[in-house]
This record gives sequence, structure tokens and C-alpha cells, in this order.
Amino acid sequence: MKALIFLGLFILPLAANEKIYKRCELAAVMKNLGLANIPGYTLGDWVCTAKYESNFNTSAKHGNSDGSTDYGILQINSRWWCKDGKTPGTKNACGVQCTELLKPDIKATVKCAKRIVRDPQGMNAWVAWKKYCKGKDVSKWIKGCKL
Ligand SMILES: *[C@@H]1O[C@H](CO)[C@@H](O)[C@H](O)[C@H]1NC(C)=O
Repeated sequence: MKALIFLGLFILPLAANEKIYKRCELAAVMKNLGLANIPGYTLGDWVCTAKYESNFNTSAKHGNSDGSTDYGILQINSRWWCKDGKTPGTKNACGVQCTELLKPDIKATVKCAKRIVRDPQGMNAWVAWKKYCKGKDVSKWIKGCKL
């Protein structure tokens, strides 16, 4: 019993920090945060990208061969966009701690995504977008959603 309580102290906070969005739930949140209004792209592009970058998992982390790490539902990279204290020469162009991009609340992620997409390469910054969403019918990603 003691051991269980002890374990629970560790597991509960971890569980509380992981959020797997449902497709339409994410579409609604992204829309509220303004991602439906980015010129050249649709809301479907963003939902599609999140699906293939993180499988809608806000806790997703991926280490890269250059020593940087990708963070969160949109797998934002620490070499250019956020600060994790362990990536040499980071630009931190979003001016944000990478851990902020792992939160269930995706406000910081969306804010940074808006900054990223402003650069000339646009959504080509996301490998998953280029590979799985670009030039595809991405409307299916918001199909049936109450938006
Ligand atoms: C979400 O990502 C975290 C970190 O990579 C992982 O530990 C967890 O198992 C993932 N959750 C699901 C449901 O895939």
C-alpha cells in the first residue's frame, strides 16, 4: 500500500502532463488560437501536420542527430525555435522554453508555429507536412468537426 501511494506520487503528475488530443478537439483549439487564418494554408494542414509529427501527443519528444530535440504536438526544434539548455548554438527565435511546448495547453506551441510559418519556407519547415499533407486533400482532417 505504501509502495503504491509512493508510486502514485510520481505517476500522477506525469499522467497529468500528457495529453493526446482528439482530431476534432485539436482542430477546434487550433482554430480558436488563430491557425485557420494563416495565408496559404488551411486548418486541415495544421491538424494533418500534428497527426504525422506527434500523433496528437503534446508530450512527444524526438532527438535529432545534430544534438537538437523536437518538442510537442508540432515537434518544434530546439536548434532554431526554443531553448532547452542543451542545444549548442540555439537561436530560440520563438523566445520560449522548449518545455512550454510540451504542455497540454498548446498556446505556446501555436504562438511559435505562427512565427515559424512567417519565414519564406512556410510550412515546409515541417517534414511531416511536406511528406504527408502538402498538395493533399487535407480537408479530411477537419471533416465532421464542429468548428
Ligand atoms: C506521448 O509521448 C510520450 C513522450 O514521448 C510517450 O512517453 C507517451 O507514451 C506518448 N503517449 C502515447 C499515447 O503515445
